[in-house]
Amino acid sequence: MNNPTRYLITSALPYANGLKHIGHLAGAYLPADIYTRYLRAQNREVVFVCGSDEHGTAIPIQAKKEGTTAREIIDKYHPIIEQNFKDLGISFDIYHRTSSPIHHTTAQEFFTELNNNGHLEIKETEQYYDDEAKMFLADRFIKGTCPNCSYNNAFGDQCEKCGKSLSPEELINPVSTLSGKAPIKKLTSHWYLPLNKHEEFLKEWVLNTHKEDWRANVVGNVKSWIDAGLQPRAVTRDLDWGVKVPVKTEENKVLYVWFDAPIGYISATKQWALDNDKDWKPYWYNNDTKLVHFIGKDNIVFHAIIFPVMLKLHGNILPDNVPSNEFMNLEGDKMSTSRGWSIEMEDYINGWIKKENGGESMADVLRYYLTNIAPETKDSEFTWKGFQDANNSELVSIFGNYVNRTFVLMHKLCGGKVPAFHNNLLDETDKQLIIDIAQTKNSVEQLLEQYKFREAQFEVIDLARKANQYMQKKEPWIVAKTLNETPNNQQLIDNCMHLCLQLTANLAILINPFLPFTAKKMLYMMKVVDKMLEWKNAGSVKLLSVGYSLREPQLLFRKIEAEEINEQLEKLKQKAMLGKTEVATSEEVNVEAELKNFKPEIQFDDFTKIDLRIGTIKTAEKVAKADKLLKLEVDLGSEVRTIVSGIAMHFTPEEIINKQVTVVCNLAPRKMRGIESNGMILMAEDNNGKLHFINPDNVIKEGSSVS
Ligand code: 2FM
Ligand code: ZN
Repeated sequence: MNNPTRYLITSALPYANGLKHIGHLAGAYLPADIYTRYLRAQNREVVFVCGSDEHGTAIPIQAKKEGTTAREIIDKYHPIIEQNFKDLGISFDIYHRTSSPIHHTTAQEFFTELNNNGHLEIKETEQYYDDEAKMFLADRFIKGTCPNCSYNNAFGDQCEKCGKSLSPEELINPVSTLSGKAPIKKLTSHWYLPLNKHEEFLKEWVLNTHKEDWRANVVGNVKSWIDAGLQPRAVTRDLDWGVKVPVKTEENKVLYVWFDAPIGYISATKQWALDNDKDWKPYWYNNDTKLVHFIGKDNIVFHAIIFPVMLKLHGNILPDNVPSNEFMNLEGDKMSTSRGWSIEMEDYINGWIKKENGGESMADVLRYYLTNIAPETKDSEFTWKGFQDANNSELVSIFGNYVNRTFVLMHKLCGGKVPAFHNNLLDETDKQLIIDIAQTKNSVEQLLEQYKFREAQFEVIDLARKANQYMQKKEPWIVAKTLNETPNNQQLIDNCMHLCLQLTANLAILINPFLPFTAKKMLYMMKVVDKMLEWKNAGSVKLLSVGYSLREPQLLFRKIEAEEINEQLEKLKQKAMLGKTEVATSEEVNVEAELKNFKPEIQFDDFTKIDLRIGTIKTAEKVAKADKLLKLEVDLGSEVRTIVSGIAMHFTPEEIINKQVTVVCNLAPRKMRGIESNGMILMAEDNNGKLHFINPDNVIKEGSSVS
């Protein structure tokens, strides 16, 4: 959309059922914040809304785990998450709550309007019911085996392993998470949104109109839903936690969390307008509003299919874009709070920001690295080593070093003041630098408008890199040594330092959306006010007035030592161990049922395809940059195979040398961390998540077959 009058930026409302990790931050919050800060710097009218998603089965389930009530859970996590976002510089205009009265009324009115206008259908169907708990089993109250990947702990709404959206009916061997028993079926009535009636609209709107300007992953995802055939979606549930259905019914019925949560964007806008004496309606009804939803990839169907259909039927505007990120993995594995394989925002803040004076710059280091590895087009990976490298070799060595050198030299060679610029001495190198400044502004702007945050940030750092090269070429410190020998020398120094300072001011403006704490520090050093950060100032080399005295430099970033990184890796390992045990304990209710949850039947012929042999581990070593992997050489009698196995968190290399193991010998080779793995070691996992080898009771000949 060209020249919108106003912008409404939303970030997915996180469930207030626990701490959120840095993968969440990188997915839906940090890019939205960068975009909003950029718009604000352009003095556009923009509102950035978010808040807690406080309904759905995830909340009462967490309450059960913590032995408390759903209300206490949301009251506990809402303020923590809100503060975590603040500490990391996420600058929402409002962080609202879906438990608020204004949200309940807004969601109910929305439902009523769709219902009264005949846009919803009522259907009576049989649904799973726990006869012991006397409850229908919606979404996460039911678990079973995923029909897609055979994971036997998939929820009734989604498999957390493969990410597939599910309905309880699709689960194999379903069990109630309340009683651990197999559920029965019982008749119940619900309201449905007939998505099938809106297929043509969605095809035209997403697959045609937005084919080019939306990310390929979003368009592709919508296409696969449409190709699979859109079905009516139930928008109510039999539950007692949520927004009550505004129609008299015999049972406890609430709006489905995915019906009420996106309406949370509207209620948050209403509350923001009330707090700021503004009108909320243009944001949701006027076509000159640009609405942008920032989300993670598991939310695509809700923001690019279901909510737009709701908005269309309700007479609201549609999103202009739905930038969705893929997933960010951590040290070779999927990030997961419940398995302990994650870095919570809270942990990062306590470990890096609150620990040191001026720790806000560590918030920027995280923002920087997460944007550097943003999973914009494909899954990406956070490693502590990568974090250290990005800080030490880019923020410290390029950006911080440049700003620091400029200030030190300006104090030393120009008396702490912005020196004059002598046009008669302007040379080609100066001219090129001036062009680079203007071009960087343009390219950063274009990239941000296209939601390409990673590339945009790279351009800013690249300008600092060019600035370092410029200074290196000009060598004002060398020129200073022969000051009196050539009449122009002080003027040459002045020109170099003048341009270096103007470039520093540009860097502050350009880096501000990405690293706001750093930009603030730079403003302080330059003794200028926030207004200088206005985007329109970028590209100019007349930002700092000649003769203006500037402060002493402050270090923008500090070096991160190897020990600090090792400490984090150690912490992660320990947390993962604890997480495994906790997951096992919290799922005790399912153990019995899980044991019953065998995979679907196979034929004898299927089994005989697997070549199982006994082997002996001859050597074992850790795989660099992969905490979970060991590289093994396994003797199989006729040959020695290299096998990469994910057991490094459970065994040290030394303790498994000469162990006999069962090997799947005919598994197709797989590359892991650049090493080709030729087979798989079979392991058994006990209830505490501990792994055990499957081996013969006496040592036997290598290569013996197992059948
Ligand atoms: O996936 C989630 O965490 C959901 N709570 C996101 C909701 S986004 C919006 F629709 F509210
Ligand atoms: Zn699955």
